[in-house]
Amino acid sequence: MKIHTTTMHYVLGKYSNKLLDLDAPRPPDVPEGEPYLPWRLKVMQQEEFWSYGGIHRLSDTQLAYLAYFNILGPSTHNTVPQRFILSSKTNSITIVVDRKFILSASDKEGRQGTISIGCGIANMLTAARFFGLSASIKILETKVEFLKPYQPDQKRYTHFVRVSFSKGILPSPKDISFLYAMKERKVIRAEWDENIKLSDLMVLEMKRLISKRYIGVHLSIITDFQTKQLMAVFQEQSMGTVMNNNDFALELGKWLLPNNSKSTVGIRGSDFGLSYKSGVRFHKGLLRKQRLQPIEIQNFAKGEKDIVRSASGIGVISVEHDTPELRVAAGEGFEDIALYLHLRGYFTSIHAATTEVDIGTALIKARLMVYNRKDEGRPTVVFVIGQPKIAQDKLRSHSSRPMIEDIIFRS
Ligand SMILES: Cc1cc2nc3c(=O)[nH]c(=O)nc-3n(C[C@H](O)[C@H](O)[C@H](O)COP(=O)(O)O)c2cc1C
Repeated sequence: MKIHTTTMHYVLGKYSNKLLDLDAPRPPDVPEGEPYLPWRLKVMQQEEFWSYGGIHRLSDTQLAYLAYFNILGPSTHNTVPQRFILSSKTNSITIVVDRKFILSASDKEGRQGTISIGCGIANMLTAARFFGLSASIKILETKVEFLKPYQPDQKRYTHFVRVSFSKGILPSPKDISFLYAMKERKVIRAEWDENIKLSDLMVLEMKRLISKRYIGVHLSIITDFQTKQLMAVFQEQSMGTVMNNNDFALELGKWLLPNNSKSTVGIRGSDFGLSYKSGVRFHKGLLRKQRLQPIEIQNFAKGEKDIVRSASGIGVISVEHDTPELRVAAGEGFEDIALYLHLRGYFTSIHAATTEVDIGTALIKARLMVYNRKDEGRPTVVFVIGQPKIAQDKLRSHSSRPMIEDIIFRS
């Protein structure tokens, strides 16, 4: 029997045209449709990458390829606030923050947006490393003020970080697994298999990875039952509060879209395991266009509690000072750990409520003092680690991303 398949035709821009590989089979967790095309980024061997340009002058295509890996990193509410200026002349990529994409209700300090920038940078550096490039990072803007949500009387774009590339050491071709890991990584919010434990060796390796790469950043992994329970209850309560708070709810409603949305940014109901119908209800309910029943809110919040309660571990990244530099480093550290875990079959989800509410930060800080017997600074990224209890949940689809042409500025 002949099986007919339909392949959609897309109009791709000048970089995507070369950098996406639409002939390769589409992974089952990458939906058909334009908002998901970036997940079909080509995985280049080292020789292919170098066929696009030379070490003394990386071509725009090579820089765009590295930037593509950047946007596969996670961002809060999948806002993807980073924009790029590619410079072949200086072998660099400047990352510009579009403050219209920094969330005004849930991210008043711009902390989550800045951490998101760090996640993207980590991906870009991981890709660069595979192609034998070393990178130096220069923070161009150190004032937190310019990384906060946009106000009409202020500058919308902040030139934030410049990443410059130079010749490094060409690693083993088998490190190509990191390129695959970046394409496969995704946040999963599901109940986890409580029988899966993190080995002491893994915990040690992750802590070492952070302390070796980042100064002023610390990782703790919580695995004890009581602390997980405590944080789970906190997560449930803060979710319930958020949904009943008008500013937060309206913002989340704007970003929590129906499953069939064509938007290249934002999260879908399906990311939370919701059906099309429930996704639409939450979208409209949060936008206050429909009334959500108290039981619906309770169930959603209970789902969040279960994610935290059943985790194999809860990771907390703390920073010695709450500065833009260290927020970026915390984001980089998170993404490095997410890739480490992905390569070992674990998934992660991030829970910002705990780090953005004073009482949540105080709660974890106090608990970490008991764990580490010293003050490791401000908890900045809280994430859970696990393997889904229901195998099917592993196949939840990737979230959308813009095509790179749409977020590259001309220099
Ligand atoms: C700094 C940061 C904060 C986040 N906070 C939350 C959160 O509080 N709750 C949540 O469900 N997801 C959170 N996420 C996950 C994002 O929503 C998710 O990464 C994004 O939708 C893209 O999906 P992907 O990582 O699967 O590609 C956060 C991500 C980042 C980088």
